[in-house]
Amino acid sequence: MRVGVLTGGGDCPGLNAVIRAVVRKGVEVHGWEFVGFRNGWQGPLTGDSRPLGLADVEDILTRGGTILRSSRTNPYKVDGGVDQIRKVLADQGVDALIAIGGEDTLGVAKRLTDDGIGVVGVPKTIDNDLGATDYTFGFDTAVSIATEAIDRLHTTAESHHRALVIEVMGRHAGWIALHSGLAGGASVILVPERQFSVDQVVQWVERRFEKEYAPIIVVAEGALPEGGEEKLLTGEKDAFGHVRLGGIGNWLADEISERTGKESRAVVLGHVQRGGTPTAYDRVLATRFGLHAVDAVADGDFGVMVALKGTDIVRVKLSEATAELKTVPLERYQEAEVFFG
Ligand code: F6P
Repeated sequence: MRVGVLTGGGDCPGLNAVIRAVVRKGVEVHGWEFVGFRNGWQGPLTGDSRPLGLADVEDILTRGGTILRSSRTNPYKVDGGVDQIRKVLADQGVDALIAIGGEDTLGVAKRLTDDGIGVVGVPKTIDNDLGATDYTFGFDTAVSIATEAIDRLHTTAESHHRALVIEVMGRHAGWIALHSGLAGGASVILVPERQFSVDQVVQWVERRFEKEYAPIIVVAEGALPEGGEEKLLTGEKDAFGHVRLGGIGNWLADEISERTGKESRAVVLGHVQRGGTPTAYDRVLATRFGLHAVDAVADGDFGVMVALKGTDIVRVKLSEATAELKTVPLERYQEAEVFFG
């Protein structure tokens, strides 16, 4: 058996841990060979691949990023893309694919399975917004990084008696904002799932100042003021139709300064959240996902994604996993509201 592996979409800490686990189990338990396709779906489209043996996965458990590189290529946006993939897989003698990715990469994996190509999916995203799995790896690392940033911002904000707004990633789901905001003792947390009133934010900020504390506002990049629009860095769309968000943090910091007369600064955490070594939790989750993805291939169980349910790794249909995004439920957000202001 010869199995192709690829990583697609935004990178995230833990991708290399999956690749290592897949190769270690596949080679040592089943005697399989592996091919690493480079740059997400671009690899199987163009034939850009590299051998992936035991020596190639040594010392990569703790390394961030992905040794296979990544891209947001969508083969369904390329004329004859699926036939091209079929030809590359046949030419390279690849019997099955393990695709590690988020909603877009796994959406392609689902369609390819429908088109007769055997794919097993592994969920990754720092956003933790994939349905059908309790957690994705990368999320815990991103939350830890954001929490450390918030801890640091508290002390400088207090020294200067300023409001500090920290913009974190999360286009449609506010999980990073919610968890890092709770862990970091934020005065306000704003998520894309719930439009916010600037007046209300200003009230919370003023209340915090009155208590002689400096307010820390954690805002997800996709959060929206009531009646407002998403703040975009550019209107350009990627191959999956996503625009680049950004700007809500600076916009809100300006509004707060203007309305309270107090100094306010914004920090955009950006890709720092996706870089560097994964936490122990993410290494373990990524490793377990990799081991179970190999089991699914061994069983010939294609069109599935490995998923975390409680503490078990289970298999779910890719169609179920990509049906809808897992967003922050209202009651989870309301838990955090106790600490606002
Ligand atoms: O999907 C993961 C993610 O990190 C989002 O949170 C963010 O909006 C996006 O990727 C950023 O994408 P890029 O790396 O293309 O700027």
